[in-house]
Amino acid sequence: MAYERKEISIEKIREQEKICAEINEKLGEKPRLAMVDTYGCQQNEADSEKIRGYLAEMGYGFTMNEFEADIIVVNTCAVREHAEMRVLGNVGQLNHAKKAKPNQIIAVCGCMVQQEHMAEKIRKSYPIVDMVFGPHELWRFPELLKQVMFSKKRKRVFETSPCDGTVAEGIPLKRDGSVKAWLSIMYGCNNFCTYCIVPYVRGRERSRKPEDIVAEARELVAAGYKEITLLGQNVNSYGKDLGLNVDFADLIRMINDIPGEFLIRFMTSHPKDATEKLFKTMAECEKCAHQLHLPVQSGNDRVLKAMNRHYDSAKYLKQVELARSYMPDLVITTDIIVGFPGETDEEFEDTIRLCEKVRYDAMFTFIYSKRVGTPAATMPDAASREDKQVRFDKLLAVANKISGEKHAEYEGKTLRVLVDGETGKPEFNLSSRTNGGRLVHLKGDPALIGKFVDVEIESSNTWALYGHEK
Ligand code: SAH
Ligand code: SF4
Ligand code: F3S
Repeated sequence: MAYERKEISIEKIREQEKICAEINEKLGEKPRLAMVDTYGCQQNEADSEKIRGYLAEMGYGFTMNEFEADIIVVNTCAVREHAEMRVLGNVGQLNHAKKAKPNQIIAVCGCMVQQEHMAEKIRKSYPIVDMVFGPHELWRFPELLKQVMFSKKRKRVFETSPCDGTVAEGIPLKRDGSVKAWLSIMYGCNNFCTYCIVPYVRGRERSRKPEDIVAEARELVAAGYKEITLLGQNVNSYGKDLGLNVDFADLIRMINDIPGEFLIRFMTSHPKDATEKLFKTMAECEKCAHQLHLPVQSGNDRVLKAMNRHYDSAKYLKQVELARSYMPDLVITTDIIVGFPGETDEEFEDTIRLCEKVRYDAMFTFIYSKRVGTPAATMPDAASREDKQVRFDKLLAVANKISGEKHAEYEGKTLRVLVDGETGKPEFNLSSRTNGGRLVHLKGDPALIGKFVDVEIESSNTWALYGHEK
């Protein structure tokens, strides 16, 4: 399929909002609740905020209790089998709620159902599901919902046709928090790493226009948000499809120029096109957090090539060194896949060696999961699940040891943190994040939520730091 960026006009979104108003009027004074259950990455969290935005315009309040909900929307992930199994298990469980509330509407959307075989599975084996739509149809959720809601005999609606990708501005948003916000700067992915399903379900890379992004960032700052996380599967290729001469580093600078006290974070950076310009910009922009999530996936060059990652371990290590030369306090995290098809024990040892060289602040480690339709799914895979588990456990032990050591280095130091919520635990009742994104628990007045404070770190473990306000 040729690349096609499908822009949804603002008029079309206004039509959807009219449908929201229509539904709101039809349902009248009747109190109504919706449950939106989100799986997967921050992109999905951001999408769920749009679904909630539409639902709020229809007069729905929100609950996380499926027995109370008149509408349930399950926003799914397809990245690993485990994610899909959790979704299917939980959708199956909704049977009880639907029996108790036969008029309940159940919708399943997101990446998992954009795969034909999964949409079929829902159609055949999950008759309680009334509505299925993929990420490209999210902008017309109200119209689809109306078809289900006002059909005489409850009609099932399935909308998951293949698509290179839509870009829609102006969808109402109901954000999750009041301190931290997600801001999608681009959708989709062009990289086709051989293990990954994302490009198939999310379509090609589409950057939002810089002016739309900056306007949204301004609104967030004006509304009092203190942390903005720019989202994309590969933020380093931001703008390449727009032909406007604005790259990701330029975009950071534009957002940094917005007056106010707030932090800019972003994810995810692909090592194949992280540039010196980016590191320099991060160092120069005082609002940009010194945090870099730079997934390496493997430390072995043959495996990296088979994964289609377009860099080798030497290039990766050079980038880490360069980034650290601009920001000595940079917090670096990564993703790693253990047991990619054909990975040998010796090749896996290269991954351990690379991790010991980089010394990541935190690592997200996954056992390879076969995804239907991806090139890696047909590659010979000799290692057993047990072999992979042994490798995984070994990597996790290394990761935890390094994280623990890095956290211990903060003890006795004073760090500026953004307080973002309560922990529910009496001794350290507040949670916060350092500039680099490390979790800090502290004791203090809940009125500090949403404020930047200086904290002296007194103790730490693998996962968090503990301290008190200075
Ligand atoms: N766009 C991001 C990654 C998004 S998916 C990037 O390229 O860095 C998040 C992580 O899930 C990936 O970094 C990878 O480590 C993991 N992942 C993706 N597909 C996987 C698969 N088939 N099996 C196991 N882990 C996978
Ligand atoms: Fe998947 Fe690779 Fe794209 Fe990340 S860059 S979403 S791992 S294909
Ligand atoms: Fe999952 Fe889709 Fe994100 S597959 S990781 S929810 S882009």
